[in-house]
Amino acid sequence: MLAGKRILLIIGGGIAAYKSLELIRRLQDAGASVSPVLTRAGEEFVTPLSVSALSGTAVHRDLFDLTAEAEMGHIQLSRSADLVVVAPATADLMAKMAQGLANDLASTLLLATDTQVMVAPAMNVRMWDHPATQRNLATLRADGVKVIGPNEGGMACGEFGPGRLSEPDEIVAAVERQLADGPLKGKRVLVTSGPTHEPIDPVRYIANRSSGAQGVALARALASRGGEVVFVTGPASVAPPDGVEVVPVESAHDMLAAVEAALPVDAAVCAAAVADWRVTSASDRKLKKSKDGLPVLAFAENPDILKTISHLEDGRPSLVVGFAAETHDVLQNATAKRKRKGCDWIVANDVSEGTGIMGGTENAVTLISDAGAESWPRMAKSEVASQLADRIAAALAKD
Ligand code: CTP
Repeated sequence: MLAGKRILLIIGGGIAAYKSLELIRRLQDAGASVSPVLTRAGEEFVTPLSVSALSGTAVHRDLFDLTAEAEMGHIQLSRSADLVVVAPATADLMAKMAQGLANDLASTLLLATDTQVMVAPAMNVRMWDHPATQRNLATLRADGVKVIGPNEGGMACGEFGPGRLSEPDEIVAAVERQLADGPLKGKRVLVTSGPTHEPIDPVRYIANRSSGAQGVALARALASRGGEVVFVTGPASVAPPDGVEVVPVESAHDMLAAVEAALPVDAAVCAAAVADWRVTSASDRKLKKSKDGLPVLAFAENPDILKTISHLEDGRPSLVVGFAAETHDVLQNATAKRKRKGCDWIVANDVSEGTGIMGGTENAVTLISDAGAESWPRMAKSEVASQLADRIAAALAKD
């Protein structure tokens, strides 16, 4: 998938730097050539010898290496790649990038490059959560830098939380998606997915049976066609795909906020099973059994995300796609839903119990658009996703 692609890999100084050796291997296995750059701090964790032995090329180490400067200046080095990957990206390196500092080879390359940059952060969880790091992250994102990870889990320092470097396989998948030449290259697509959880009290919530499988399959299909996918997902049982920007949310309100933050996009696909109602009387303390009888829950209607996107006056995506999960009168209900929501397409499906579609691996859909209703045969959710992604790409190509 990466045949002929050149990756400039900047290895920052952190305990996770050892994974960069595996990353070099995996990138090469995928067909890429890797030019490694090791920061001074990086050299404390992996040796230049192991990096150059694995990559089969000299390691770039110092800004003032006069031979290298004569043969290939840092400006050229920064621009000759198809992608610049920083892994691990330490808090310090991210801060330098956000500030535009250029006081060593790595930061100079990052400032001088006109190539897409992707960072894979790795650091202690408190450093990751620190407002300064989060500020820098937001700056980097706004500057167009792609971010992969970090993952959550146990860390070398003994703490637990977000801050672990993404696995080499995940980074390679993200690189492949970034460099994928497909019909959706240059298009930004939003996908909402999964159920939402609406709290009743700190330990209880209202949810639904959505597994998120269809949304995950769609995000994967869109990304593999070169799309830049923002995947806003409620608490789903199916894990999000690699190589997309994942924004985890809980409630419908959170989902709307995340969707608004992700705009503008070229297309929006709302596959989430958003709870229609939330509990207005949600308690901040656990509800207890009492002699006074059963608790009474009051409900309020949740924001309709699909409808909100469809009616945007400023920056409406050129294509808005909704799903209609129905248990009866599927076509009739879905056609009315398309009108009511104001979206361009509705993908209707029958989720009544006997179909096994909700939570299952297959789907039987009808695509409703201005052109009419088109029923597709029952097929795997991944195949529905592939065909839908092809249609979306074709529709966006007409813009
Ligand atoms: N949807 C949404 N926000 C909501 C409710 C639904 O974005 N608050 C989106 C879903 O992601 C889906 C479409 O609207 O794309 C239809 O969802 P569905 O649950 O079938 O429809 P409802 O709006 O709940 O309509 P009804 O109550 O008539 O089933």
